[in-house]
Amino acid sequence: MAEGGVQRGLEDVVALESQICFIDGKEGRLIYRGYDIRELAERSTFEEVAYLLWYGRLPTPDQLDGLRTRLAGLRALPEPIERILAEMPPSANAMDVLRTCVSALAILEPAETQPGPSSIGGALRLTAVLPTILGHFHRARAGMPRLAPAPDLSHAAWVLHALRGTEASELEVRALDVALILHADHELNASTFAARVTASTLSDLYSAVTSAIGTLKGPLHGGANERVMELLDEVGTPARAEEVVRAKLARHERIMGFGHRVYKVEDPRATILREWSRKLGQAKGNLRYFDLLRQVEQVVHAEKGLYPNVDLYSGSIYTLLGIPRDLFTPLFAASRVSGWTAHVLEEYQDLRLIRPTSRYVGPIDLAYVPIEKRTAA
Ligand code: SDX
Repeated sequence: MAEGGVQRGLEDVVALESQICFIDGKEGRLIYRGYDIRELAERSTFEEVAYLLWYGRLPTPDQLDGLRTRLAGLRALPEPIERILAEMPPSANAMDVLRTCVSALAILEPAETQPGPSSIGGALRLTAVLPTILGHFHRARAGMPRLAPAPDLSHAAWVLHALRGTEASELEVRALDVALILHADHELNASTFAARVTASTLSDLYSAVTSAIGTLKGPLHGGANERVMELLDEVGTPARAEEVVRAKLARHERIMGFGHRVYKVEDPRATILREWSRKLGQAKGNLRYFDLLRQVEQVVHAEKGLYPNVDLYSGSIYTLLGIPRDLFTPLFAASRVSGWTAHVLEEYQDLRLIRPTSRYVGPIDLAYVPIEKRTAA
């Protein structure tokens, strides 16, 4: 709200022009480079969507094959990163691990980090390698066998292989592929804005992604998907949903997975993820999470008129896929890195230092008192 011209949280402030993503908050529509997310989720793959975000058009079959081959060839970790991961305590926050490894990669791979159109190489590298970092980290702490390259796997299949190790069914791979598509970009959300601010100073792409990872970690942004599952632990049964949710609201607590700065109706990604949560739950004979979420949804809407956002159902899908809960937000990052890097490349093409101003409300013209004359305030 504007208090003396200040838009707290930059709410509704149009900060720049972009050709990457359009959100219609009133109608609940999400568009990547002109294509409706509902069609992309239905008919596309994460690799095809990443190509669209980076290059601004859908790939031909040869271009898509070329991208798949390049991404598969960029999954391996340099030995120093494996050593860093081996030093990470199993209790380390996985977003901190991701952020640390991206920073270290910038030191090891300087060629990929020069600002400008050549940064597309860095965009592919980080998109390919983030799942490998998570896989190495998780397997080491879980005592699982070391991650072996699997160049024939699609990106979504590779993510599941990296995090689980067991064979994945077609339905499981498709469920994750759709989730990766839905998380790939979202206009000027906080982490993408952080990436663009960093790039706007002509800093490098790896620094911009490091800024973005640190920003996405927050529970008001990317961290909500893990907290939704904690809420379900607390609710326990559909019958308890009303009591637990109403008590939280009475304490003015936020219900994770609900509300959005831009959407005034249901987040279209929540609509698609709700259906996948049901589909996967049915296939696995486990609709517990889906039923709990439906009940929570009804109470929150009745009590606060709030709609679900992308984080409400994603955790139930990842849980059914056997992905550990503390890797949900890093998985969000592993998808959104495609959008972050597309925005960084766009910033480099039409660079303008991002530097808003603030309204000073502190004291002015105070007299300087020498330290020997100062007494406790
Ligand atoms: C993501 O920006 C993006 O696009 C982000 C994202 C992306 O893809 O990058 O979509 C991903 O971050 C989704 C959001 C994930 N976060 C959560 O689910 C956390 C819970 N949600 C809220 O914290 C909140 O809805 C925000 C942060 C998402 C948006 O908050 P706003 O726009 O700042 O709204 P607000 O805080 O001003 O709230 C307006 C009113 C308030 O009521 P009053 O105090 O005026 O009575 O709505 C209430 C809030 O209390 N409210 C909630 C609520 N969200 C808003 N009340 C309870 N639970 C909630 N979740």
